Amino acid sequence: MFETLPDPKLDGIIALMQAFAEDPRLGKVDLGVGVYRDEAGRTPVMQAVKAAEQHIVETQESKTYLSLAGDAAFLDTMRDLLLGGAVPASRVAAVGTPGGTAAVRQICELIRRAHAQATVWISAQTWPNHSPLIAAAGLPTRPYRYLDPESGALDRAGLLADLEEISAGDVVLLHGCCHNPTGVDPTPQDWAEIAALLDRRGAVPFVDMAYQGFGAGLDADAGGLRHLAARLPEILVAASCSKNFGLYRERVGLAMAIVPEGQRARLAGTLAGLSRRAFAFPPDHGGRVVSTILGDARLRHIWQVELYEMRDRVAANRRGLADALRAETGSDQFGFIAAQQGMFSLLPLSPEQIERLRAEHGIYMLGDGRVNMAGLNAQSVPVLAQAMAQVLR
Ligand code: LMR
Repeated sequence: MFETLPDPKLDGIIALMQAFAEDPRLGKVDLGVGVYRDEAGRTPVMQAVKAAEQHIVETQESKTYLSLAGDAAFLDTMRDLLLGGAVPASRVAAVGTPGGTAAVRQICELIRRAHAQATVWISAQTWPNHSPLIAAAGLPTRPYRYLDPESGALDRAGLLADLEEISAGDVVLLHGCCHNPTGVDPTPQDWAEIAALLDRRGAVPFVDMAYQGFGAGLDADAGGLRHLAARLPEILVAASCSKNFGLYRERVGLAMAIVPEGQRARLAGTLAGLSRRAFAFPPDHGGRVVSTILGDARLRHIWQVELYEMRDRVAANRRGLADALRAETGSDQFGFIAAQQGMFSLLPLSPEQIERLRAEHGIYMLGDGRVNMAGLNAQSVPVLAQAMAQVLR
């Protein structure tokens, strides 16, 4: 039965991870997968996570099944972290998921169940797994303009013009903060305009929040989501704790639907039913770590300090790379790298130049020029700047 199966096509990020692992060169530089790294190239377990895990080991008495939605404390503390009280809890239905990826997939399943004709609008540059996840749920996508390549800033006019074409009941996927892959986020004024437009057109925002805390701060990074939640009747949210809690392999995420009063129970039941048919119960350990941290003032403080240290290191790498590129090329054209936020930026390089960086310099970035700024350190910043200057010549 399997002879007709087409050869699998590896996701670009996963293929790059493999290629990097197989490269024997000592000085190779991994700027591929979106994982935080410290100056020594490690991705350590956060101290707050270690302490929460210790507490769980010492106090947990059972690992029997919970409800299909998962740990209520995880869902409640995450709701508060994301929404900050922008809407009453009675409007929020949520279920735990195996990571933010499954949250995106489950939200797409929910959309198809509710409105099979919906188109999901995605930013022209987006996380490479968004389209496949949406397609796997049987929904079509349409792109809206996002990045202005000249300025490295938001193409605000293009975005708003494209979204004017949206139909009632369509869904717009927006990155909550630290846009992946551009590092470009809407300003509070842009969010207000997007919210007003979606409200007027009868469209539903779907916010993917994977980097809360890596931008302007935990509350500021959720500002766009909170504005949408306060203004619109229906919002969908997929959230991940992979990056801001460093819980990558534990698979910690949640899918959330914010709905008008009176509809919460139906949405919660629908999401739970979708979970039952996909993976039944969500993983518990990572979510329990998160709720232990968020529910304890001391651990929460330790976590926030660690999170902001990571954020600040990435921002320093951005400034370092922008300065080094200015020195190497004599041009200001890379200033946008310092102005953007979060882990990623898109470097304006051709596929040939990206291939030369890999083949000649052992520098790995995605095929569209996406670079994980957390993968840089004091040694690799000048290496990258010199190599880029060379391939750009
Ligand atoms: C990334 O964009 O590199 C990360 O979100 C990891 C992933 O799952 O793709």
